[in-house]
Amino acid sequence: MARRSASTISRRTLLAGSAATGVLALGSGLVVASQRPGQPVTATSAAVRRAEVARQGAGQKTVAAHLSPRPATVDLGGLTVQTWAYDDGVPGPLLRATAGDLLSVGVANSLGESTSVHWHGVALRNDMDGVPGTTQAPIAAGGEFTYAFTVPDPGTYFYHPHSGLQLDRGLYGVLVVDDPHEPGDYDLEWVVVLDDWVDGTGRTPDDVLATLEQGSGQGMGGMGGGMMGGAGGQSDLLGDAGDVDYPHYLVNGRVPAAPVTLRGKPGQKVRIRLVNAGSDTAFRVALGGHRLTVTHSDGYPVQPSTVDAVVLGMGERYDVLVTLGDGAFPLVAQAEGKQGRGLALVRTASGQAPSATTAVAELGGTTLLGTDLRATSEVRLASRTVDTSHDLVFGGSMGTYRWTINGRTFEDAEPLGVRAGERVRLRLRNATMMFHPIHLHGHTFGLVRGGARKDTVIVPPMRQVDVELQADNPGQWVTHCHNAYHMAAGMMTTLSYQA
Ligand code: C2O
Ligand code: CU
Repeated sequence: MARRSASTISRRTLLAGSAATGVLALGSGLVVASQRPGQPVTATSAAVRRAEVARQGAGQKTVAAHLSPRPATVDLGGLTVQTWAYDDGVPGPLLRATAGDLLSVGVANSLGESTSVHWHGVALRNDMDGVPGTTQAPIAAGGEFTYAFTVPDPGTYFYHPHSGLQLDRGLYGVLVVDDPHEPGDYDLEWVVVLDDWVDGTGRTPDDVLATLEQGSGQGMGGMGGGMMGGAGGQSDLLGDAGDVDYPHYLVNGRVPAAPVTLRGKPGQKVRIRLVNAGSDTAFRVALGGHRLTVTHSDGYPVQPSTVDAVVLGMGERYDVLVTLGDGAFPLVAQAEGKQGRGLALVRTASGQAPSATTAVAELGGTTLLGTDLRATSEVRLASRTVDTSHDLVFGGSMGTYRWTINGRTFEDAEPLGVRAGERVRLRLRNATMMFHPIHLHGHTFGLVRGGARKDTVIVPPMRQVDVELQADNPGQWVTHCHNAYHMAAGMMTTLSYQA
């Protein structure tokens, strides 16, 4: 989506440090930011450098890596596609560091267009956040850029471009930040990445967006939500399930006909790091014959909760513990409210593999959403008076395919002003019939109800989710719907530190 990102860059002048207003005039008569007008704390400001120095411990280790985004021919399991990938693989390479390390990743852009890399969920220095036009200039075609930043907090994160719809190609990978103090009460670890796939099957993501913008719709339509063409498209938990009817759903880059096999021994305890790298699909995940104990969400610990299935919106991560049974089991990622699933095979013994379409009773059992989680006491935000509140009202229409926050698309968005040190409350209000997984960069907020720390939270149709954050990471941080198509169509704004 070069066209839209180019216009975004020219309209947004945050890198140059334009003054922002402190008073927000909103469509539905809401909010006033509490602070006086100020100057935006830009990505290149001294405050950003100081915050990074404060994160760096003595004897900091450096973990170096390299990423080459480029066109690639990828075998998704008997289905070969032309796409864009990091280092020719989908998912891209697993990056791994320990909390406190300096991660240094050289990116050589061999795509035919500009790109960027965003480190989703990491509370990093603002100038390494990878948002063209807000925190850096885009990495030009043929250009290079080195991302170097301290990874302060352990957890399961991922990386992807913040440029147009490149995420909905094969450009994504997982970043695991290990906890040097964690007991590690498990025998095995699996990283499981979920994705909805269209690229190279006759349509690119840009083609899909063009169709949505033309409103011709492939069976979709209706104010504020998408109907899936022929697929029903409704979820009991999430309402309208999505705008895009994907031909394939992947687990670790494989279609269900040729799943990856995850191996262990009966009785072993495995930590599964689940990541939803999809662009328009929530996944309901279950392991046949097993229950899942959710221990972390978006990298942070939660009070353990044992359920049959978990739902991940786009951009969400859960870590779950499972005690393995004896046999071969389907790990299913059902496309929530859509037709189709992703599949991996869990094997601890020889014997017949379950078929790709096998029924998994757990998918209909107790099902957990991120908003059901509770923080552990160590990570719960201390309660404090709120200094600044902002409403974010999510709106949209399928007719013109325009998705908004407070009635505006990103190009015209009024930044949400905050000051360093403040306690900030964001009231996330969904005024549409479709769910939106709302992501904030550079911070891990706490849910006001339950306290779970997250950076991405599903806001169901016509519902409100309140979150709070401590404004402790200066800079300009975008917040947006992690539906890649909604974001491309405008559903993004900026949490703007003001000095
Ligand atoms: Cu995972 Cu702003 O993105
Ligand atoms: Cu959305």
